[in-house]
Amino acid sequence: MAKKKETVSRTLGVALALCIVCSVVVSAAAVMLRPAQITNQSLDIKSNILSAAGMLESGMGAEEIEERFQEFEIRLVDLDTGEYVDPERVGVSDIMKYDQYRAAANPEISINLKPSEDPAGIKRRANIAKVYVLRDNDDVRRVVLPIHGYGLWSTLYGFVSLEGDANTIEGIGFYDHAETPGLGGEVDNARWKSQWQGKELYEEGQDEPQIRLVKGGVGSDAQDREHKIDALSGATLTSRGVENLVNYWMGDRGFAPYLNKLREGEV
Ligand SMILES: Cc1cc2nc3c(=O)[nH]c(=O)nc-3n(C[C@H](O)[C@H](O)[C@H](O)COP(=O)(O)O)c2cc1C
Repeated sequence: MAKKKETVSRTLGVALALCIVCSVVVSAAAVMLRPAQITNQSLDIKSNILSAAGMLESGMGAEEIEERFQEFEIRLVDLDTGEYVDPERVGVSDIMKYDQYRAAANPEISINLKPSEDPAGIKRRANIAKVYVLRDNDDVRRVVLPIHGYGLWSTLYGFVSLEGDANTIEGIGFYDHAETPGLGGEVDNARWKSQWQGKELYEEGQDEPQIRLVKGGVGSDAQDREHKIDALSGATLTSRGVENLVNYWMGDRGFAPYLNKLREGEV
């Protein structure tokens, strides 16, 4: 009589061998794809910075994005003093590798924000932020700043680009959020974003940023139009989040000390 081929130990052996082969394939793929993932993430951040600055053109390839991004000087800023700091102070050799969101989780290089000083709902803030400066000879022509804060469902991460006067907005964009498509998700709508161009952060002689997102839209004869943007329709809470986070980051606990220095030509 022929020997029985199917035994419990054979079945388990085949299953085990299959598991080992699959895990080797998955691990090898993960390891091999990691460099490509890192390159793509870095390219994505660069294209978002260019987009906020109005420098991203449709159809731009990876090489053109890299080339255009080279125009920026990348600096680290101490948010309390507004001064530039050496990358060695945060222990990185490559400035692009400094991650202020990861730094915010480290109590040695970040601060806890009291609810009264945290309109953006971020709880902790890194002491040092990465900024992108574009100069014309020695004059600052534009500066792109990272911003983030809570909307309705999620934290929105993005960039705002300012003109060399450190007051006039050139553009804004969010590269990561989980607001509802068609409602809060309209923060990505190009037409809505275009309203930000030319708006002013501060009232002359004042330090408090004045950006307001207006429910129902900004009328053509509205007072202080230079600080006002239409709120997103059906998304009052996301709109309030965006208003709060922009004003937080352009305020005292955010970039205001740096922007003051920039205006005075001290950095
Ligand atoms: C499924 C669902 C998704 C929603 N998503 C958002 C959103 O992303 N952002 C937002 O502000 N409101 C969102 N809302 C609406 C809010 O619950 C709330 O009604 C709204 O912010 C009030 O704004 P309004 O006065 O402009 O209608 C959502 C509501 C529902 C039912």
